[in-house]
Amino acid sequence: MSETTLTQPDQLFADAQAVLAGGVSASMRLHPYLGRPLYVDRGEGPYLYGIDGKRYIDFNMANGAALLGHDHPAVKRAVLEGVARGIITAAETPFHARLAARMVEIIPAAERVRFSSVGSEVTLVALRIARHATGRTTYLKFDGHFHGLSEPWLYRRADPRDASSPVVPSSGGVPASGADDVVMVPWNDVAAFDAAITRHGEALAAVFCEPIHYNAGCIPPAPGFLELVRARCRERGIIFVMDEVLSGFRTHLGGVQAQYGVTPDLTTHAKALANGLPLASVSGREDLMLALAPTGPVAHSGTYSGHLLSVLAALATLEELSHPGLYDRLNATAETFYRDLQGVFDRAGIPARVQGMGARFGIYFGITDPVRTWSDALDHDHERNRRFAAGCFARGVYFHGYTRQGPPGHAGFSLAHSDEDFAETLSVIETVTKELRRDA
Ligand SMILES: Cc1ncc(COP(=O)(O)O)c(C=O)c1O
Repeated sequence: MSETTLTQPDQLFADAQAVLAGGVSASMRLHPYLGRPLYVDRGEGPYLYGIDGKRYIDFNMANGAALLGHDHPAVKRAVLEGVARGIITAAETPFHARLAARMVEIIPAAERVRFSSVGSEVTLVALRIARHATGRTTYLKFDGHFHGLSEPWLYRRADPRDASSPVVPSSGGVPASGADDVVMVPWNDVAAFDAAITRHGEALAAVFCEPIHYNAGCIPPAPGFLELVRARCRERGIIFVMDEVLSGFRTHLGGVQAQYGVTPDLTTHAKALANGLPLASVSGREDLMLALAPTGPVAHSGTYSGHLLSVLAALATLEELSHPGLYDRLNATAETFYRDLQGVFDRAGIPARVQGMGARFGIYFGITDPVRTWSDALDHDHERNRRFAAGCFARGVYFHGYTRQGPPGHAGFSLAHSDEDFAETLSVIETVTKELRRDA
């Protein structure tokens, strides 16, 4: 590749497609509205710098991994200490138990912890534990909730608008027969959930949820819904799994389970746990966790599981997140920003709804009523979203795009975003909304 290629995003994407499958290393890095990935040279705090030298205020923050900000000094220091120890891989160290002990203190469900590398792996392991513990195979998930791209999660409704339509694979290479194991229910729908429990309760190994459905923007649990799921699972001997890969550390140090006071049997974490280093965990009730090898028969191991660099980064991250008052400040910042953002759209007469909790949020274009469940967001206006994201991008504010259909993906800020960054962002969005209105 030439020097020019290294500074010209369009040329780089063209060249990359000749050698990388689809031109990317993860399908969701192809920004569906820009038609290419954002090519990053470096990150610092709330900013990403493109290979063309341009600075962007980042509202993706590594899909939510970089909650403290990019290149956080304490995290960087911890990683460099790990490098100095010899880049130890596939070995236990005292730091692993130290991190697990901290998680047991912080996360209500966590009596025992097992580390892994990515979210998709720990949600799969959680299902494996639940199937072993119950002797059942079937599992319930909520419409549109994302638990990674391992096999059990690659199913969807044939007709997303019809909650009675059959469950089918959402990916090539996935057996249609696997759909028989999946029960799918709309999020926050008490009647549908209770009906599914009445019908399938004795056959269900697990109920999985994103306790705040951020993967569809931001859909909080309706009052009492998490409590209902908890109670029904207990009555029927079903393992309740909260997938906090995205919601963990976002609104509360202990996650959504601590925020709402509802403790699942198992829980999964990744993303913000190590502020940008690959680390995931499954944790939960002692009796369930001890089913994992080597104490029990449920398989889980891996060369990179709990990589030391990631474990050290996570210890530093949790120390930072444990500063007194941090979540009061974070939640107050969030409330102000989301209110101000909604105000910009309202003043411009752009039909859009901002829903956010803690450091992550969704913007629903063309929707003004509260979004309470996944299907409420199916009419999200992607064309308006495209013009919004492109207008912001041109002015140095980065909103990632995950999809070109259905509900929008999620956006988020970091603890490194300053009042000035929010003010600059709101001013950019004010200009962009004027354009949107003019072109409407
Ligand atoms: C709630 C949730 N679970 C699981 C995953 C999968 O995590 P990973 O991308 O680390 O495999 C994600 C990723 O976005 C997620 O948001």
